[in-house]
Amino acid sequence: MHIDIITCLPRLIESPFSDSILKRAQSKGLVKVNIIDLRQYTTSKHRTTDDYAFGGGAGMVMMIEPIDNCIRQLKAKRTYDEIIYTSPDGERFDQSMANALSLKENLILLCGHYKGVDERVRMHLITREISIGDYVLSGGELAAAVIADAVIRLIPGVLSDETSALSDSFQDNLIAPPVYTRPADYKGWEVPAVLLSGDQAKIEAWRHAESLERTEKRRPALLRKH
Ligand code: ADE
Repeated sequence: MHIDIITCLPRLIESPFSDSILKRAQSKGLVKVNIIDLRQYTTSKHRTTDDYAFGGGAGMVMMIEPIDNCIRQLKAKRTYDEIIYTSPDGERFDQSMANALSLKENLILLCGHYKGVDERVRMHLITREISIGDYVLSGGELAAAVIADAVIRLIPGVLSDETSALSDSFQDNLIAPPVYTRPADYKGWEVPAVLLSGDQAKIEAWRHAESLERTEKRRPALLRKH
């Protein structure tokens, strides 16, 4: 998979890709993440990527020209499955969207900023808008990192134990069951006996029951999808 992330603040998004699972996924050649500084695509002397809104009002607006220049140059090199704009107004990101995106080959993530983007970018240059939740971040970089992380970890070979992504919370619209490690007894706080029984069928049944109970308690709406 190839992911191009377009941002006017590249430093804000570099670190999540320079460590741990996302770094390893890149060194194994399973994904290429390319962070692109939008300022390199402006023709203005001061390399600005935003301007005042026509009609007035508070807040700067991201200009269409640098974005168009950048996307045009990227599209000359490869065909993109999706050109995603991160914005609080977009479709709500969830696990099923992450699953679908993990099957794609080439993605662009355009990080929103300031008061928003010139509407013509939304009309003509992107294929979808994604929000990571009903709250407003100071920019789309963290949202792009969240989306890329959730997608990349699903690519086969990225996680060492291939089944572990499948047993994540939400993968079957259930919250994951509790997990424990040594010691079996910590200051009298004991691990459930079934987990020490060695009876794998019993353990799986217990885990499933715990998942159902947790989901019902914490996220009852998920159970309707289950
Ligand atoms: N940019 C600002 N807030 C955002 C959000 N909640 N999701 C995606 N992009 C954003």
